[in-house]
Amino acid sequence: MPKIRLDKLVKRYGSLEVIHGIDLTTEDNEFTVLVGPSGCGKSTTLRMIAGLETVSGGEIYIDERPVSKLEPKDRDIAMVFQDYALYPHMNVAKNMSFALRLEKRPRKEIQHKVGEVAEMLGLEKLLDRKPAELSGGQRQRVAMGRALTRDASTFLFDEPLSNLDAKLRGQMRAELALMSQQVQKSMVYVTHDQVEAMTLGQRIVVMQDGHIRQQGTAEELFKRPNSRFVAGFIGSPPMNFLDGQITRRGDVAFIEGEGFKLSLPVELAQRALKHPRDTVALGVRPSDLVPAEAGSSDALLLKVLVSEYIGAQSILLTECGPHKVSVEMNSSAPVALGQPLHCSVQKDGMHLFDSETGLSI
Ligand SMILES: Nc1ncnc2c1ncn2[C@@H]1O[C@H](COP(=O)(O)OP(=O)(O)OP(=O)(O)O)[C@@H](O)[C@H]1O
Ligand SMILES: [Mg+2]
Repeated sequence: MPKIRLDKLVKRYGSLEVIHGIDLTTEDNEFTVLVGPSGCGKSTTLRMIAGLETVSGGEIYIDERPVSKLEPKDRDIAMVFQDYALYPHMNVAKNMSFALRLEKRPRKEIQHKVGEVAEMLGLEKLLDRKPAELSGGQRQRVAMGRALTRDASTFLFDEPLSNLDAKLRGQMRAELALMSQQVQKSMVYVTHDQVEAMTLGQRIVVMQDGHIRQQGTAEELFKRPNSRFVAGFIGSPPMNFLDGQITRRGDVAFIEGEGFKLSLPVELAQRALKHPRDTVALGVRPSDLVPAEAGSSDALLLKVLVSEYIGAQSILLTECGPHKVSVEMNSSAPVALGQPLHCSVQKDGMHLFDSETGLSI
């Protein structure tokens, strides 16, 4: 059964519309991630689901029950915020059991529940500590634990890891992935970090300017982005874009721009030739560029400007005519700065986008 369904959901603040009629259906026990740049409407959407913002149009269904007129407490939802506020005078156990105590649940049940969640989050040894005696990551886990002790069917997270340093974020991300497998609840998770979205989300929903641009698994979004926006947003380092025109000689179609000319694979050529366009953008991921034989005609001729060593891989920042192009390369491959480098595009590594609409061709 679909768990959460947004039906033409609209949000207006006065005359300003910030969510423009979005549709979304999540499955039972699914980990859904809303991702997109700052200001695209992720928090607003989440807050409408939670009941912390009113709905200006459309409807929210939870298990096919319309909930937009219900109080937050009647929606069977628990939420974790970015700026989690723990009660400073209460220890970890008290913080985690706060909602249950408010509901006057039996003591045995509360103890059991807190113990269970504390074990899952690795907080067993910290139950007697006050928030001030915890590290940032531990506090974050308590905030999460406070939500998870609730018997809600749906959990909402708004950038719960954004206050943590990179290493801790990585750790918490893994713990969260593990936890979400264990608890078997529906989760909607908001982040502007595409790596977090890719690693956590079973369904990833990419938003821009109050619209949903695409949704799918990490692999679907990575391999078949439907627009230049999604292509550039998902994947790190980001996809390279080179503007050019489609030309044709005999049976072969090419994309040709300032400083480059590449033949197009047959299927892509057919799609590109169906509707003639003035300009298109070629999209190539840094990992889809591979060194080619010197003098190879069907390759990009790049000039290496900078090499960034990041371990097994290096990111080369290069120039191709007026275009800047990043290339991901095995660090053991010899590269000389300032020197020319021939790179061909791996099979299935070419993407074309309409320059006017930004849509995938
Ligand atoms: N109370 C408000 N009144 C007017 N406009 C608002 C209000 N709250 C949010 N907005 C606007 O709505 C849009 C969406 O905001 P929202 O907070 O949902 O973005 P977000 O995707 O969560 O961004 P971030 O990643 O920065 O948290 C923004 O343009 C924001 O300025
Ligand atoms: Mg936000």
